[in-house]
Amino acid sequence: MEQHLQDIPVRDLKIKAFDLWDKDWLLLTSGDYSKGKFNAMTVAWGSIGNMWNLPFALVVVRPTRYTFEFINSYPSFSLCGFPEEYRKALNIMGTKSGRDSDKLSESGLTATKSEMIAAPVFEEAELVIECRKIYIEDFNPTHFIDDRIDKNYPNKDYHRMIFGEILTVRGLEKKYASK
Ligand SMILES: Cc1cc2nc3c(=O)[nH]c(=O)nc-3n(C[C@H](O)[C@H](O)[C@H](O)COP(=O)(O)O)c2cc1C
Repeated sequence: MEQHLQDIPVRDLKIKAFDLWDKDWLLLTSGDYSKGKFNAMTVAWGSIGNMWNLPFALVVVRPTRYTFEFINSYPSFSLCGFPEEYRKALNIMGTKSGRDSDKLSESGLTATKSEMIAAPVFEEAELVIECRKIYIEDFNPTHFIDDRIDKNYPNKDYHRMIFGEILTVRGLEKKYASK
C-alpha cells in the first residue's frame, strides 16, 4: 500500500483543474486485482466535479483501447497520479497496449490492492482516486457543435464517457489536501 499517502476527505481534495489532466496525466485502471485481470492506460482528458449531488470523476476512453474492454466489464476504476520521475512510465502506459505487450512490467509500476474497489491502484502513486461506475454515454458526432471536436476523430472512434462516483481519495497531504 502507498504508506506515505494520507486519506483525504473527497470534498477536501485540492487539484489544479486543468494541470491534473493535461500536464500531469493520470493512470486509469479497471478490472479485478484479486483475479489478476486488469489493464491500465494513461489519460489526459477528463474531469472531476459534482453531478447528481455526487462527487464524480469523468474519463473518456476510445473503443480501440484494451482498457475499454475492462472498464465496460468491471464496475470500478481507479485514477492514479504520479511524481514527475514516473513520466517515462506514463509514456509507456499511454503508447503501448496491454493487448499485445506486458507494458506494465516494462513501466516498472507496481499494482496493489485498492481500499474500496476491485480495480488496483499503484504503489508509486502520489494521488489515488477510487471510483465506482455510475453512468456511461458515447459521444454522438451529430451533437458536435464546434468543428474542432470532429478533427479528433479521423477514425470515427468516438470516446465513451464513463462517470464514476469518487468513493475514496488518498494523496500527499501537502499537495492534494485543502486543509
Ligand atoms: C498523455 C496521454 C494521454 C492520453 N489520454 C487518453 C484519454 O484520455 N483517452 C483515451 O482513450 N486514450 C488516451 N491516451 C491513449 C492511451 O493511453 C493509449 O492508446 C494506450 O496505449 C491504450 O492502452 P491499452 O490498449 O492497453 O488500453 C492517452 C495517451 C497519452 C500518452
